[in-house]
Amino acid sequence: MSEKLWGGRFAESTDKLVESVNASINVDKRLYESDIKGSQAHLEMMAKQGIISSEDAETLVQGLDTVKARIDNNEMEFTDALEDIHMHVEEHLGDVCGPVARKLHTGRSRNDQVALDVRIYLKDETLTLIQMLKDFQAALVTLADANKKTVMPGYTHMQRAQPVLFAHHMLAYYQMFKRDVERLEDSLKRLDVMPLGCAALAGTTFPIDREYTCQVLGFSRVSENSMDSVSDRDFVMEFISHASICMIHLSRLSEELILWSTSEFAFITISDAFTTGSSIMPQKKNPDVCELVRGKTGRVVGNLMAILTTMKSLPMAYNKDMQEDKEPLFDTIDTLKVCLEVYTRMFAHIEVHKERMRAACMTGFLNATDFADYLVNKGVAFRTAHGIAGKAVAFAIEQEKELDDLTLEEMHAFSDLIEKDVYGFISLDATVARRNSYGGTGFENVSAAVDAAKKDLGI
Ligand code: ARG
Repeated sequence: MSEKLWGGRFAESTDKLVESVNASINVDKRLYESDIKGSQAHLEMMAKQGIISSEDAETLVQGLDTVKARIDNNEMEFTDALEDIHMHVEEHLGDVCGPVARKLHTGRSRNDQVALDVRIYLKDETLTLIQMLKDFQAALVTLADANKKTVMPGYTHMQRAQPVLFAHHMLAYYQMFKRDVERLEDSLKRLDVMPLGCAALAGTTFPIDREYTCQVLGFSRVSENSMDSVSDRDFVMEFISHASICMIHLSRLSEELILWSTSEFAFITISDAFTTGSSIMPQKKNPDVCELVRGKTGRVVGNLMAILTTMKSLPMAYNKDMQEDKEPLFDTIDTLKVCLEVYTRMFAHIEVHKERMRAACMTGFLNATDFADYLVNKGVAFRTAHGIAGKAVAFAIEQEKELDDLTLEEMHAFSDLIEKDVYGFISLDATVARRNSYGGTGFENVSAAVDAAKKDLGI
């Protein structure tokens, strides 16, 4: 005869291997606080509705506090035989309170219980992550603020394209992470929905008050369909999807930091505390943190694939497949958190080599577009001006010169509209300063964008 909480109809005890496959306690034990909070709200509601007596409810609420304290203090032994966190809490409540604990599970099922627990947990973690993202944005904006005049080559196809401000480059990432924050904030609307009371799949025969439980737990609203509430994990898929996008942003940034740290670029130095050495090559200082953040993006995207594939084709309502949602979810939360935290700290220790960046702008014809724009201002159509500038670039390459090094006579071979003022026009700072179209890299624009970002973040 099985002693399981569900053991009534079983004559044989569970196979040991099955017990270990079935158990999720090692993963879901981190839900214990949410689980206990949910149970206490459920008890309060049942007492108010007269489903159980106030005395029993009071005993059990206090008993759950004791169970929580035991888990807080590492005094609870976790075992596969008790499957998951819900069973552990209920079983230990029995140890604390005696047979009255058997009333706790009235009018609910583990199916609505687990949906509730994960929502409580994820709401909390989402709020934490939003704050962490804002802290990281602040680190980006601080670096931008210190580099409002730092020019660097802007690239397309990894080829030098036009000069930009380093601050502008940092603010581009600020915008990406701002959207990541917005996505998480938006997801809260769908996450902040209370499923308890949907029971196994069909609702319950007991006179429960879901609105009341909802209020006690601080959710915005109750879910509307019991089958949907216990059987979808779209809020998990949505979270991991948003987290994946955020990791991809971090990964792109990582790639740039790694490139900029090479001897070839030498645009930045990341401080010793955030880099590591080689066991064989004494000279090495490796950007491992950036590489790991880039690498961990693979895990999170993998987690997204895992949850999407798990949910695909599941018939309604609850299926045990869904127990597999927690590992990818928790791993995603942990990974995103550690990446954001380490980057927020590392960004305060990035040295920007302004002179190197400036020097890199001096070769590679970053002012060729401005050369064409100069001709456009003299009345030449842009396509024609583009052709002329292209020829001038080809000539300069042949001469092993930059456009600025060509004499006025040499330039006249391409257009007699060119005058002495061309040199000022195509000089580095002028090419940056003129790009003051809204959203562009012009000094004034970027300064205003830094101020706006600081105001947004309250820093
Ligand atoms: N550990 C389970 C999960 O994470 C809880 C729900 C179990 N429900 C059930 N009918 N066996 O999904």
